[in-house]
Amino acid sequence: MKRPVAATVPEEQPGCGITASGLHFLAAEPRVAGLGAETTDLVKAVAGAWAGPSAPRVRLLPPVLPYAELDQQATSGLAFPIGVAEADLRPVVLDFATEPNFVVFGDAECGKSSFLRALATSIVNRFSPEQARVILVDYRRSLIGTIETAHLIGYGTAAPHTTELIESAAGYLQGRLPGPEVTPAELRSRSWWTGPELFVLVDDYDLVAGGPSNPLWALEEHLPHARDVGLHLVLARRSGGAGRTSYEPIIQRLRELSTAGLVMSGAPEEGPLVDQVKAGPLPPGRGRLVTRREAYAWCSWPTCRPGDGVRDRHRAVRENR
Ligand SMILES: Nc1ncnc2c1ncn2[C@@H]1O[C@H](COP(=O)(O)OP(=O)(O)OP(=O)(O)O)[C@@H](O)[C@H]1O
Ligand SMILES: [Mg+2]
Repeated sequence: MKRPVAATVPEEQPGCGITASGLHFLAAEPRVAGLGAETTDLVKAVAGAWAGPSAPRVRLLPPVLPYAELDQQATSGLAFPIGVAEADLRPVVLDFATEPNFVVFGDAECGKSSFLRALATSIVNRFSPEQARVILVDYRRSLIGTIETAHLIGYGTAAPHTTELIESAAGYLQGRLPGPEVTPAELRSRSWWTGPELFVLVDDYDLVAGGPSNPLWALEEHLPHARDVGLHLVLARRSGGAGRTSYEPIIQRLRELSTAGLVMSGAPEEGPLVDQVKAGPLPPGRGRLVTRREAYAWCSWPTCRPGDGVRDRHRAVRENR
């Protein structure tokens, strides 16, 4: 709207405004004689007088979604249910076969670690250690106890050990790079190597990248062909200061590769965090999922306590079910 025209709208007169073309308007107030001034009074009176069938209630995202309510059987392979969508309350699936890497941005206490815990739990529940291995990089130890099986090949809580872990993993992935003898058909089916998928889950990435050298550096060269070598890098980062990390090499490379991500609660002033999506205030466990396929979808994902689900699975294995 044009500022000079907007300035002419009378103050303290409810209902006054200007239209997009700069004309003044006065909004009519829906009020029935004999009823209170509140809109809710009108709505109540109308609802009370209506004897026919009522419209179905608008279904909203639940405030809390227990991890056990996610139907893990509905998908297979690298496609994991991560939450439910606002549009239809159906499961939101993240397919690491098509979107090999993933980023999560959000302010303090918005549920970043909880997201990583739920993902780690799903990986461990679905795959054997021969099929999938996980490296956790978690300087604040928020994910401790999440994986207690042979799936976990390393837990980096400080730079020197993390660097060692990542360099060793990167060296291992080097052996999976396709040579000139690999045919296009083999490339498509990824049949020139066998072994576990490697998930590198990094919490509080701002702390990890904040040191003098980035312990994840060795993975950078594998990011463009992550799918081919079975690598999945999942970074969770504070959204505060995220705009300034555009030049940080790992984030920059992930951006160039149009990596999918979740934008959780945060300040819009940080600018676009994943593709063109900026953060805004949201309750914990809510965010916007940005993928090439889904475009932008609101979704909610489960809370996950350490060990959720894994224990049940172990019990089932013990009891031979
Ligand atoms: N999916 C969720 N649904 C509802 N509430 C959640 C969800 N995830 C987390 N929470 C709530 O938010 C709190 C913070 O969760 P979490 O530690 O995962 O957030 P965080 O973003 O990792 O926080 P920090 O900034 O401290 O690292 C939890 O104690 C929980 O109460
Ligand atoms: Mg956390």
